[in-house]
Amino acid sequence: MEDSSLMLGMTIVETMAKINSNYNKLPPSYFFLEMGKKVKAFQEKNPEVEILRLGIGNTTEALTSTVIKGLTKGVQKLADVKTYTGYGDEQGDSRLRTALAAYYQKSHINLDPQEIFISDGAKPDCANILSIFSDSSIVAVADPAYPVYVDSSIIAGKKVIYMRCSQENGFISDLPSKKADLIFLCSPNNPTGVVLTKKKLQVFVEYARKTAAVIIFDAAYAEYIQDQDLPKSIYEIPGAKSCAIEINSFSKWAGFTGVRLGWSVVPMDLIVEGEKKGKINSLWNRRQTTMFNGASNIAQEGGLAVLSQAGQKECKKLVDYYMRNSEIIKEGLESMGLKVFGGVNAPYLWVKCPKGLTSWEFFDKLLNDAHVVSTPGSGFGSMGEGYLRLSAFGHRENIKKAVESIKKNLVL
Ligand SMILES: Cc1ncc(COP(=O)(O)O)c(C=O)c1O
Repeated sequence: MEDSSLMLGMTIVETMAKINSNYNKLPPSYFFLEMGKKVKAFQEKNPEVEILRLGIGNTTEALTSTVIKGLTKGVQKLADVKTYTGYGDEQGDSRLRTALAAYYQKSHINLDPQEIFISDGAKPDCANILSIFSDSSIVAVADPAYPVYVDSSIIAGKKVIYMRCSQENGFISDLPSKKADLIFLCSPNNPTGVVLTKKKLQVFVEYARKTAAVIIFDAAYAEYIQDQDLPKSIYEIPGAKSCAIEINSFSKWAGFTGVRLGWSVVPMDLIVEGEKKGKINSLWNRRQTTMFNGASNIAQEGGLAVLSQAGQKECKKLVDYYMRNSEIIKEGLESMGLKVFGGVNAPYLWVKCPKGLTSWEFFDKLLNDAHVVSTPGSGFGSMGEGYLRLSAFGHRENIKKAVESIKKNLVL
């Protein structure tokens, strides 16, 4: 009997279940564990010290009153047999899809609600969308990048190539150096806080059209764009509907990180090799109807409230609150002579480590000297070495305390 055989009653099973060995190819997840360990060790050694967290991209402020009313309405509908709903459409509540189409219309982007798919967030969509493309696809990802793009591509068995971002290219990816089938772009960017201009985005759109690649555009921070000339959606670029999928979320716009609601736009015009227009849309529809049972009906009522006039106004205030935090961090660090990128149209600040320190060395220094937790840039890719990411998500008083502590205690 082979090692891999098993005796089950009288039946000999020749092979055992095997894992998806792509998981073995993932970069080790020790990075964020290591951060946690360092913070825990520091806290144990210094129990009286207040740790100030600028490391996590998680929202902290309460939902707005209009959104709470929307969510409450969602709950109340479930309390009455006349308004109760169970499973909804896997693609999402048609009222929400229509409201999102109207929202895009404000930027002169025409979308049919059928091109919009509601989901439980941008992260799952970024990962799941890969399953509708060939296993042999080559995926281009920026270095540094939000880790989901690389990890989910590896799990899906796809090959990853990197587009380097550095101070020299303004942290805007160069075009892929080899033929790529899929290109992940994130603007405003996590972790660098940099935003693609229309001109830069146009270069990617033209490249994708020329090389028959598909761009997966993660716009989860679009509402943080303050500068009217910067594109919030890739569909502001002519020709993008034929080569781009857009993924977005209510998480950072409306504080839905825990509520969970997002959407993807898969245009009918999108074309891939050997297929007719509409094929990608129908494949995503097939994927979602097979493997997803729709976003929560309560969350979708909340999403409708976000998109109402009052909701948009209130959520803008929420975004403005975090952007004021960002300003406070940027001003504070720059006043010390630190070099800070991003943080103007995005809630992330990308700080160059001073004096040639590595990301981890600067992380340790900030923690030990100023009791501030950051995220080492090297956790987002090798090009992130020598940088730290700071997040503007947090209560104002903690942000102020953290900046004051850095200014007072950081010894460089
Ligand atoms: C770039 C980017 N995309 C997507 C997400 C996840 O969004 P969601 O909460 O909708 O899954 C995040 C969360 O931090 C992010 O930074």
